[in-house]
Amino acid sequence: MKKMILDLDTGIDDTLAISYALGSPEVELIGITSTYGNVLLEQGMRNDLAITDLLGHPEVKVYPGLPHSSTTDSFSVLPISEFIHGKNGIGDVQIPDSTRKPETQSAVDFIIDAAKTYGQDLIYVPTGPMTNIAAALRKAPEIKDQIGKIVLMGGALTVCGNVSAWSEANISQDPDAANELFRSGAPVTMIGLDVTLQTLLTYKETARWRDLGTKASAFLADMTDFYIKAYETTSPHLGGCGLHDPLAVAVAVDPTLVKTLPINMQVDVEGPTRGRTIGDNTRLNDPHKTMQVAVEVDVPRFLNEFMSRIGGL
Ligand code: BDR
Ligand code: CA
Repeated sequence: MKKMILDLDTGIDDTLAISYALGSPEVELIGITSTYGNVLLEQGMRNDLAITDLLGHPEVKVYPGLPHSSTTDSFSVLPISEFIHGKNGIGDVQIPDSTRKPETQSAVDFIIDAAKTYGQDLIYVPTGPMTNIAAALRKAPEIKDQIGKIVLMGGALTVCGNVSAWSEANISQDPDAANELFRSGAPVTMIGLDVTLQTLLTYKETARWRDLGTKASAFLADMTDFYIKAYETTSPHLGGCGLHDPLAVAVAVDPTLVKTLPINMQVDVEGPTRGRTIGDNTRLNDPHKTMQVAVEVDVPRFLNEFMSRIGGL
């Protein structure tokens, strides 16, 4: 069975990504590496432990990641995050804290060890800033050839950003790290806003979860309603909330859900477009494409998988 690591800034759609992974019998979630973004690192780890407990999977270990990008020494949360994900990252819904603690091994070392242990069987899915994987690649560059695949949520190829005209939230918080990853030669599939903003959830679906009558389903419904409400204000034209992070997990489990374009990407790290994801013109003619960018998604099939996997938890 394939092994999966989720690297999360546990927010609402990150929580849905955990749920999708735990509802997928094709993969074993061997650990969560925490990062900052929607919430600070400490809150993210607290969420990861509490959520995996609530979903009945206390065996999932949580590893502390780096608390901020390498180009800043400040602990940062995007200003919009509290509005989208709530103060606690999970829509301000209160769930019991876990009695477990994060592991003492760092996220960076855990990623390196897992790449060496599981090799091609390892799927790494980052759905926050790419700070941890960039640090792992700096410390052990050989893992780029060992790791099976990296399926990340971030960036956009054909549409604009969501935190600025150019930049998507996960990439914007550490453009240098994302650029290092994109140019490392590691096998990366980028699931950007091009496709995630086509996969939307509405109150109709969360009502179905509430009807299941379990603690976990009530939590997921209440939390996701907070997210849908935020989207009603920020993106009323969409008619639902974007399932960004669960789509990355879904593609990691079943790549046929999307069509991809093979293209070596880079991230602008200088100037006003810092944080933009774009084709790397220095590698345009390189016949070896290490990256795939999702450009089309089978929306009905994904939503069907999403509802049945989460409903089955
Ligand atoms: C991404 O940014 C975060 O707010 C979400 O969790 C998702 O990973 C979408 O741009
Ligand atoms: Ca996220």
